Amino acid sequence: MCGIIGIVGVTPVSGRLVDSLRRLEYRGYDSAGIAGLVGGRIERRRAEGKLRNLETLLIEDPLTATTGIGHTRWATHGAPSVRNAHPQVAGRVAVVHNGIIENFAALKAQLIGQGRRFESDTDTEVVAHLIDRELERGLEPLPAFKAALDQLSGAYALAVLIQGEDSQVMGARRGSPLVVGEGQGEMFIGTDALGLGPFTNRIIHLDDGDFVAIDHQRARIFDRAGVSVNRAMRVVPAASALVEKGNYRHFMEKEIHDQPDACQHTLSAYIDPITSTVSSPGVDFSAIDRLQIVACGTASYAGMIARYLFESLAGLPTDVEIASEFRYREPALRPGALALAISQSGETADTLAALRWCKDRGIMTAALVNSPESTMAREVDVVFPTHAGPEIGVASTKAFTSQVAALTALAIAAARQRGRIDAAEEARLAGVLLEAPRLIAEAILDDGWILPVAQEIAKARDVLYLGRGAMFPLALEGALKLKEISYIHAEGYAAGELKHGPIALVDEATPIIVIAPSDALFDKTSSNMSEVIARGGRVVLITDNQGAGHAPEGVNVVIAPACDPLIAPLVFAVPIQVIAYQVAVLKGADVDQPRNLAKSVTVE
Ligand code: AGP
Repeated sequence: MCGIIGIVGVTPVSGRLVDSLRRLEYRGYDSAGIAGLVGGRIERRRAEGKLRNLETLLIEDPLTATTGIGHTRWATHGAPSVRNAHPQVAGRVAVVHNGIIENFAALKAQLIGQGRRFESDTDTEVVAHLIDRELERGLEPLPAFKAALDQLSGAYALAVLIQGEDSQVMGARRGSPLVVGEGQGEMFIGTDALGLGPFTNRIIHLDDGDFVAIDHQRARIFDRAGVSVNRAMRVVPAASALVEKGNYRHFMEKEIHDQPDACQHTLSAYIDPITSTVSSPGVDFSAIDRLQIVACGTASYAGMIARYLFESLAGLPTDVEIASEFRYREPALRPGALALAISQSGETADTLAALRWCKDRGIMTAALVNSPESTMAREVDVVFPTHAGPEIGVASTKAFTSQVAALTALAIAAARQRGRIDAAEEARLAGVLLEAPRLIAEAILDDGWILPVAQEIAKARDVLYLGRGAMFPLALEGALKLKEISYIHAEGYAAGELKHGPIALVDEATPIIVIAPSDALFDKTSSNMSEVIARGGRVVLITDNQGAGHAPEGVNVVIAPACDPLIAPLVFAVPIQVIAYQVAVLKGADVDQPRNLAKSVTVE
């Protein structure tokens, strides 16, 4: 979703605004723009499409401002166009915004009634008009900003520039992320520490509801009520170095290769390799009578995998629900339950809303997040970290496997705490789980099977993915990966469901990708493959060596390393990621920034 940057600088800022926006590209966007104060007046440059279009514009028509704001826009209200790109300007005010102003229609009608003219279809333009109206009424910039904020409902992170205020940028956050960066005689605000990485690693995370005014030397921060507050500054480790692609063609490719390390680091937060014990810091699962997982997209598939583990290993009743639907069914949760959000970003609006719904009802909350400073991490009772490092590719890979690794560890800890396994079994399972990084690395290295399969899949219009048990969520994940980055229609099904409908789709043109390690369920899934082949369907079987030996005649095989069923979701995730990646590359798709998608979905 939209990315924001604001700089009060001592040298011209347009190049740095664009540099920061480039680091925020991963969030997804369809237009970009910057504005600065030149000779006391607001000047802006905006372009539809990629940042290079904005850069070309800036070469033709440079912006010399030393104070400015910038934005990458992921369209919500109004089509992607120059007119709707941010900054949005009204009178003396320029605004960039991430989020949705839910009451914008009523505000816009009121402002039009007062004679104000609108140029765009955005919800954001009302913010600029509201601030400008308060300035016209005689308020100083900061009180005018606060007065405007008090009229908004919905979610926002904002950066605001006011004509005549050459050394000030104001910002605010409610429901969308915004941080402050401290420089040397310069100050910054931005969506996240990565965006500010080239300028500073001294970061202040604002609380929800805070607003701020930065100048050359300081940040004045106020809470929702307008009371001046101090928020802690933290030095963020090497933020600027962590987002390089290195020798890889795409971030997704790099992040697939990062997975052994990402899982290793994540597991070290839960498993003590010396004592072979597994912990769940902050939660005693023997005191929990129900686990409610909420998440979106790929994270929800990690949750589905976890359900198998928490129920079979720990005997803990577990539900998984897509966060965007969770609140609408009025879940019958009682104290004693633990609500666990799974989220790479820790900012996904629906997941956050589901967590808050639980919190308001006195349910204990936890979040498994990859961003320790995210809103979710700051709001829950217990944070479970993943240590995948920044994930830039829109298609989640290392965040997913790190989530599954952490959840597997937590399920083992829960099993021990609930008396379902003894210390020896805990140690055995911990040992199995610690094997995962090595086997993931093997799966990545042994990808020679995949290119011929990818060449076939790239020609298809529709693809089906099938799996049983914990391979069913992987089938859903495989289908999501493929459609996200290659735009091929794909669906995942539980293999047993095939005969209840999807088999009608089987024909020569629809490849079926079956994920089936040689486990207790293999023979049943093998029967499903035979049913497909008997109807002229083409099957790609992802299995291990033993499974390949028992595969029905006529299937195309991709071999993954043999492993214990406990870690099969981790090891078998690799070939489905690599298939999607290679198909997208063959199709020449924009792998890291697929059309219409945002990395962090901060609107509901
Ligand atoms: C995964 O490839 C997706 N891009 C998407 O489904 C993602 O997992 C989802 O939006 C949840 O994001 P989060 O983990 O940051 O909450």
